[in-house]
Amino acid sequence: MAISITGMRPTGTPHLGNYLGMLRPALALAREHEALCFIADLHALIDVRDPGALRAHTREIGAVWLAFGLDPQRTVLYRQSAAPEVCEVVWLVSCVTAKGTLNRAHAYKALLEANRRAGRDPDAGVSAGLFGYPLLMAADILAMGAEIVPVGRDQRQHVEVAREIARAFNAAYGDVLRVPEAVVDERVMTVPGLDGRKMSKSYGNVIPLMAEPDELRRCVMRIVTDSRPPEEPKDPVGDTIFELYRELAPDDAVLRLRERYLAGGLGYGEAKQGLFEVLEEVMRAPRARYRELMADPGELERVLAAGGEVARARADATLRRMREAVGL
Ligand code: TRP
Repeated sequence: MAISITGMRPTGTPHLGNYLGMLRPALALAREHEALCFIADLHALIDVRDPGALRAHTREIGAVWLAFGLDPQRTVLYRQSAAPEVCEVVWLVSCVTAKGTLNRAHAYKALLEANRRAGRDPDAGVSAGLFGYPLLMAADILAMGAEIVPVGRDQRQHVEVAREIARAFNAAYGDVLRVPEAVVDERVMTVPGLDGRKMSKSYGNVIPLMAEPDELRRCVMRIVTDSRPPEEPKDPVGDTIFELYRELAPDDAVLRLRERYLAGGLGYGEAKQGLFEVLEEVMRAPRARYRELMADPGELERVLAAGGEVARARADATLRRMREAVGL
C-alpha cells in the first residue's frame, strides 16, 4: 500500500479553502492509504514570529485534522518539529541540490519580481529559510519515505523538486531514497474566496472553518456577486456562491441549483442562504468536536506525541541509511 503525506502550515486559523483544497482530499486518501499528516511548524517559522501564535495555530491545525475525522489509529498525525532528523536530512540533500533549482521556485521568484517592481533590492524581505523552503519540504517527504503527495497546483513544483533531489541523491549514492509522486486532484484546484479571487488569508477573503453559525452566515452574505436582479438568468460557472455550493452539496442539489441559476428567478440572496445552510450542515459536527478538542488539549497532545514517535522512527531509519551512504 502506498504511503501518502500531507503537511499544513500553522500560519493562521484554518479556512474553507484549506479544507476543500487540502484537508478533505488528504483525508480521503488517508482512508485508502497508509497516510502521514503533519503540522508544518518549522515551515511556519518563516512567517510567524509570535511563539504564542505558533502554538495556538499548531493546536488549531491538529484539532481540525481530528475534527474532520482523521483516525489516529490508522493515520499518523504529528508535528514536523517532533522529528528533528528531518533537519539533518535537509543538510544532506542540500549538498546534492543545485542552487539554481531553488532560484527557480515560484514562491521565491514571485517575491523577487514584486521587489523588482517596487524598485527594492531583489532579495528584500527574503529569508534564507524562505529560499530553502523547497529543501525542507523535500526532506519532509523523503525522510518519511512517502510515495504519494496530494497537492494543489501551487504545490506541484515543490514535489517536482523533491523528486529531483531524490534522484540526485540516488545518482550520487545508490538507491537510498524513494522517489515520490505528486497526486494533483484537478477538481480541487482553486477555491474562490469572498471577493472571487483565490481564497487566501493574505487576501482577507476567507471563510473561517470553525466559525459559529452567525459568523458563517455573515461571511457568506459578503460574497461578491454581479448585480443581476433575481429575475434574470445567471451563469453558475465562475460564480463564487455556486462554485462553493458545488463542493459541499449532494449532486442532485447541485443540479437543481444549476437549473435555477440558468432559468432565472433566483436571487443571489437566496442562493447565499442555500450555501449557508449546506455549509452549516457540513460543519456542525466537526465544529462541536473541534471545540471539545480545543477545550481539553490533553487528548490532542497525546495523539501528537504518539504520532511524533512514529514519525521520528521513520525519519531516523532514513537518516541512518543516508549517513551510511554519504560516509558519515
Ligand atoms: N508546502 C505545503 C503548503 O504550503 C506544506 C508542506 C510542507 C507539505 N511540507 C510538506 C505538504 C510535505 C506536503 C508534503 O501547503
